[in-house]
Formats: sequence, C-alpha cells, structure tokens
Amino acid sequence: MKLLAISGSPRADSTNTAMLECFCRQAQAGVEISLYRGLADLPVFSPDREGANTPMVVHELFDALRQADGIIISSPEYVRGIPGGLKNAIDWLVSGEEVIGKPVVLAHASHRGDDMLAALRLVLATVTQQFREDIFLQLPLMTKSPEEVRKLLQGQDCAQKIGLFLNEFVQEIEKGPTTSR
Ligand SMILES: Cc1cc2nc3c(=O)[nH]c(=O)nc-3n(C[C@H](O)[C@H](O)[C@H](O)COP(=O)(O)O)c2cc1C
Repeated sequence: MKLLAISGSPRADSTNTAMLECFCRQAQAGVEISLYRGLADLPVFSPDREGANTPMVVHELFDALRQADGIIISSPEYVRGIPGGLKNAIDWLVSGEEVIGKPVVLAHASHRGDDMLAALRLVLATVTQQFREDIFLQLPLMTKSPEEVRKLLQGQDCAQKIGLFLNEFVQEIEKGPTTSR
C-alpha cells in the first residue's frame, strides 16, 4: 500500500514536515509513505491553466496522488486559516478525478491551529467523499527543531500514537470505500 504525505508548511525546518518524515520512517511492513515535496513549486491555480494548459509540476502532483491509496496532510495555521500554498494545491485538484474518493486524514504538529483545522476539514470533506475526520493525530511540536521532533517522536509514547494512527488509516483503506459516513 502506498500513502502520500503532504505538508502545508514550506518552511525548511517545519515541524509538520519533520513529523511526516517520521511517519515515512515508521510505516509498517507493506506500507510505503512518501512525502510530496512540490507544494512550493506549484503555480497559482487558474481555471485557464487546466486541461491542455496544465503545467508539468501539476501533472507530477496528479501522478503522485493517482499512485497513492491514501493521503495524510499535516499543516500549520497561517493567519487563522489554511496556508496559501496548501489551499492552492487543493484548488488544482477540484475539477480532476485524482482526489475524489481518495481516503484522506489529517495530522497536526501543534497544540494550536483550530481555525485552520476547521477550515481544512470543510475543504477536504468537499473534495473527497473519503475524508476521515475521525482518524486524526495531533502532537504538540510547535517551535521544535526537526532534530528535536525526530527525538521526541522516537519516544515510546509518540511512537505508539503514530503507530496506532497509521494502523487505523491503513485498516480503513483496506476495508474499502464507505458511503454511509
Ligand atoms: C505567516 C504565519 C502566520 C501564522 N498564523 C498563525 C495563526 O493564525 N494561529 C496560530 O496558532 N499560529 C500561527 N502561526 C504559527 C504557526 O502555525 C506555527 O508556528 C506552526 O507550528 C508552524 O508549523 P511548521 O513548523 O510546520 O512550519 C503563523 C505562522 C506564520 C509564519
């Protein structure tokens, strides 16, 4: 099974990205998690650039999504909302087939950011029928360095929480799509 991790933070020392990198390393046998690194290179979405005009970097995002059985998104809050780069990426997906019906879950590397989480939940529930709001992992990592994040997440408590979160998501994907939620 292949999962795609997307960080909403373009920051080199991002806690959200560092947490997702830990997920990649901690994936259970048979599960491959890869981190999408192209968010900051995507041009600003315009309907004029869809179809034959779609830029190559956007096709690369589409391909990564097509290959994934599920998506994990982790994002900071910027100005009480979704960071522009992440929202821009989601805007590129709206009229395509890549994300409709794709299982998506959220993780979050901060004890704050409830406004962004509420907005992102609304957006994801709009773009995929398989957004699983109930599968969620929040770890208080704000202001930690990537090295500190790595060390913390290797600790038994965090490693167990990550394992449970990833297992739950994998199991739900294996069960197949549901329309009753
Ligand atoms: C431009 C900008 C705006 C921010 N706005 C908020 C905000 O509205 N609410 C909040 O709790 N944190 C806000 N923050 C703090 C980030 O959400 C927080 O530091 C987050 O943990 C950073 O994630 P990262 O380490 O993955 O980049 C903001 C940070 C930046 C750079």
